[in-house]
Amino acid sequence: MSQNREQWGSRVGFILAASGSAIGLGNLWKFPYITWHNNGGAFVIVYLIAVILIGWPIMTAEILIGRKSQKNPVLAFDELGGSNWSLIGWLGVLTGLVILGYYAVIAGWTITSFISCMNWSMNGYTAPEEGAFGEFIGNGKLQLLLSFIFLALTAGVISKGIKKGIERATKILMPILFLIIVYMVIMALGLPGRNEAFSFIFSPDFSNLPPSGILEAVGHAFFTLSLGMGAMITYGSYMDKKESIFKNAALVVILDTVLAIAACVIMYTIIFSVPSVKDSISGSTVGMLFITLPNLLYTEIPFGTILAPVFYILVGFAALSSTISLLEVIVSLLIDKMKMSRQKATLIGAGTTYVISIFCALSLGAVDALSSFSIFGPGKEGVLSTLDHLASNWMLPVGGLFITIFVGWFMDQKIIQDEVGKFNDDGSVNFTYNMFKFFIRFIAPVAILAVIISVIFGKDFS
Ligand code: PFF
Repeated sequence: MSQNREQWGSRVGFILAASGSAIGLGNLWKFPYITWHNNGGAFVIVYLIAVILIGWPIMTAEILIGRKSQKNPVLAFDELGGSNWSLIGWLGVLTGLVILGYYAVIAGWTITSFISCMNWSMNGYTAPEEGAFGEFIGNGKLQLLLSFIFLALTAGVISKGIKKGIERATKILMPILFLIIVYMVIMALGLPGRNEAFSFIFSPDFSNLPPSGILEAVGHAFFTLSLGMGAMITYGSYMDKKESIFKNAALVVILDTVLAIAACVIMYTIIFSVPSVKDSISGSTVGMLFITLPNLLYTEIPFGTILAPVFYILVGFAALSSTISLLEVIVSLLIDKMKMSRQKATLIGAGTTYVISIFCALSLGAVDALSSFSIFGPGKEGVLSTLDHLASNWMLPVGGLFITIFVGWFMDQKIIQDEVGKFNDDGSVNFTYNMFKFFIRFIAPVAILAVIISVIFGKDFS
């Protein structure tokens, strides 16, 4: 199986696919709105610390496990650690199903945003009325259709395999997305709300940060970097042995973080500059990406009429390259373990996910019982929010914790040496190697554990 495992077709193949997985709705949709809810500054600092102390070592560890074993997460842990450790792989697959289930619903919104933008570009922009977004997400049939379309697109690419599907498309589209974001940041910086936005993002006031915000920042670091559930193990398993794991991991982490911060700069500058936008998002910050940006594009940005539809295609694509990595975790397990054909595995994986999507799609106002369903308290009502909270803030950090314990303490340490190289040319021990070992053994597990324990025993459990 591992001898003829498919590999990324080019040297940049991994970096594109992995950053495609990492960069997605987590950066453009979720980070700006959870940062808003957690009052900016301090939340951003905790998030950045989590990305460096926890994100980078776990990213490295996951890629390393994948490349060494050349297998999906379940079989990878089985091979490197024995059958008990394969439970982490199973937890990852389950987490993948849950995340993909609700992610496909949000991703579906990019389709309607694109259609609206086409309409505005041809017929002129009219700012949506207050409440329009709530009405849209409460339309159950439409939500079911959009999430179905998105899952079908994901399945279509996955069934074609790694190289011909995802790699080819990411190569063209991700760089364009970057350029448009840079252009939008530059334009947003010319708006009057710029200073207020910057101080919201970059002036920390820790008294404003609830304990649950700390868990949310750590959880989001996992979510946005696609860590804790084996996506990077799976992608690492297709990686060429000649590639440097340290460098690739660091690059993905940096690109992802820059994009998340850029999304906040753009969005908050508009919110602080245009009062009508502030009114329209106040009821539904979840819709920030879909409400705020068209306003900027159509009213402030040169060439916005052309850029707006292109931008939403690219957001849709960023989401697609993430859903692909989520589904690939499930599909590669079915192929490797159950010996299914790629087509059959894709159909079963996507079909099972859609069952979860149905519950999520109807939990945004369409079906009362699903919309008011609550485990985590106010602000997290509804199946979709509940699953998001459960997966990002609990399942991913727990999965990540076990990954650090496995790689730091239980796995044969020679594997780390073989995969990342321990020595410099002059025979001294590589600095990054030492740092990685220290982070993966002590810093990352202690940090995750401390956060989990403090939230479990803390007063604020929202
Ligand atoms: N990292 C993706 C995002 O930020 O949108 C979401 C994601 C993809 C999470 C793949 C987990 C994963 F395995």
